Amino acid sequence: SRRTVLRAAGLAAALGAGRAFAQRPVLIQFSHVVAEDTAKGQAALRFKELAQARSGGRVRVEVHPDSTLYKDREELEALRLGAVQMLAPSLSKLSALGVPEFEAFDLPYLFRDHAAFRAVTSGRIGAGLLRRLEPLGVEGLAYWDNGFKVFTANRALRSPDDVRGLKVRVQASRTLVEQMRLLGAEVSVSPLADVHEALRSGRLDGQENVPSNIDTQRLHEAQSHLAVTRHGYLAYAVIVNQAFWRGLDASLRALLLSALQDATAHANRIAEQLNAQALARIAASGRVQVVEPGPAEQARWRRAMLPLHAKAQAWIDPALIDAMQRAGA
Ligand code: LMR
Repeated sequence: SRRTVLRAAGLAAALGAGRAFAQRPVLIQFSHVVAEDTAKGQAALRFKELAQARSGGRVRVEVHPDSTLYKDREELEALRLGAVQMLAPSLSKLSALGVPEFEAFDLPYLFRDHAAFRAVTSGRIGAGLLRRLEPLGVEGLAYWDNGFKVFTANRALRSPDDVRGLKVRVQASRTLVEQMRLLGAEVSVSPLADVHEALRSGRLDGQENVPSNIDTQRLHEAQSHLAVTRHGYLAYAVIVNQAFWRGLDASLRALLLSALQDATAHANRIAEQLNAQALARIAASGRVQVVEPGPAEQARWRRAMLPLHAKAQAWIDPALIDAMQRAGA
């Protein structure tokens, strides 16, 4: 009868909807603020590829690079609200979430090399800092490497005195603000997405970043000089929205962690090389004069910025600074 047919159709629709619901993949929106052709950009894509393949379609990852979805501050807000599930902000920016201790990573001349940074993040200090995100509704899952920062400006940077009076951009970190103040700069905190235009229009005179960001954001095209100071370190924490993460099956979480572990290894493997290649490309572009400070000048840059280690004890636990100095040296 007609009624039976209708009932059957209704049942089929209900079953169909149920199946569609059960099969709908878990969506992970991963937002970040740099180009795909950087260590973070590549590692995010590797995570997507591995998570999707290993889960056999149970997970879908959408990566939104280069501030296409959110800029610096907005992405942190979006993660906490659950509008996105995953980010990899710089450690400098985690301070704004409410854990100023991450700013210890911003202290100048803290890490001798990449291995020293990894020793800190893969050990007790690294794990302890990630745990401090938990009460804030955020889970820290991994650290991703990038590398040493250099200075760029619209004037020659032969010594730290040349930074005096320049309008300089830093990331949102009190430690980075104070570092530039020590050099006598006028400091401006702004999202990476706005830096190129601010340099081009003259609202900013200079900035610090890793070569791969300078190259891919074309910051050097709005600058005349670059000094290879390697004074500070840029790296990331991969973080997820806690309610989302804890709501997943344990088996799915384990699978995602294994994908993340491999993506982390990828980031750490390529970071140093991508920066070396970017620096070579920047120098070859002829848009900016690249200067490698000699030992005497390098000592002057160090002398100018090192007082920050003592000063920062006013806002970062001195015991943590001490432990990081010992582990990083
Ligand atoms: C910056 O804002 O300069 C960096 O944190 C960008 C990034 O994510 O590498």
